[in-house]
Amino acid sequence: MRILAISGSLRRDSYNTALLRAARDIAPAGVAVELYDGLAAIPAFNEDLEGDPPAAVADLRGRIAEADALLVATPEYNGSAPGALKNALDWASRPRGAGVLIAKPAAVIGASPSSFGAQWAQEQIRRALMLSGAMVVDPELAVPKVNEKVVDGELVGQPTPSRRSRRKGRSVL
Ligand SMILES: Cc1cc2nc3c(=O)[nH]c(=O)nc-3n(C[C@H](O)[C@H](O)[C@H](O)COP(=O)(O)O)c2cc1C
Repeated sequence: MRILAISGSLRRDSYNTALLRAARDIAPAGVAVELYDGLAAIPAFNEDLEGDPPAAVADLRGRIAEADALLVATPEYNGSAPGALKNALDWASRPRGAGVLIAKPAAVIGASPSSFGAQWAQEQIRRALMLSGAMVVDPELAVPKVNEKVVDGELVGQPTPSRRSRRKGRSVL
């Protein structure tokens, strides 16, 4: 199984990208997690070009089409999803009715140094994926205080599910 991992952060030392690297490193045998690194090259969405998209967009669509599933890790900016990530999903969602996200299994996680783990951004990304036809899995993973859990780019420590999150069916790392 091939999973395309997309980080919504362009930051070199991104915590969200670090989580995807950790997922790649612990993936079981037979599961290949491939990190997408083309987000910075995706231009702003232009509906005029959706049928004949720029090369970076064609590459993104091709990589999503070839993947068995998506794993998206999103930061949160001002209570919202990062523009670059939402923009890339908008390109991937078209052409309407024939986009590569249709029926694509997808999971969304998110991390922030705050106490909430980018939950608002995650909600927006889940909604955009669902409306694009993806099959978004129910389990959610928010990683609050991620700066205490990712040190020098590496995931450290053990998962500590919170009681509040367990009640809501959510996981907090
Ligand atoms: C413009 C801006 C807005 C931010 N807004 C939020 C926010 O609404 N909620 C939050 O939890 N963190 C917020 N942060 C902090 C980010 O969670 C933090 O920078 C995080 O490390 C970004 O993710 P990354 O490490 O994957 O790049 C904001 C950061 C920036 C630069």
